Amino acid sequence: MQIHLDSDKCQGHNRCYALAPELFDVDDYGQAVLLVDGDVPADLHDKARLAAANCPEYAISVAE
Ligand code: F3S
Repeated sequence: MQIHLDSDKCQGHNRCYALAPELFDVDDYGQAVLLVDGDVPADLHDKARLAAANCPEYAISVAE
């Protein structure tokens, strides 16, 4: 699974960080930062989908 964060769309809602702190961090401006280099480890696929589904700005996408 691949995960992509569109930083231009991120408005700092931080639901991604709350739901999947293994995949996301928050920078000094409150914007999301991806902690993985595109590839999502198998045990985090559910969390990746959850984060993508819960971003109000649709800034996160996953490709199976
Ligand atoms: Fe940004 Fe969406 Fe996360 S707006 S901080 S990517 S929940």
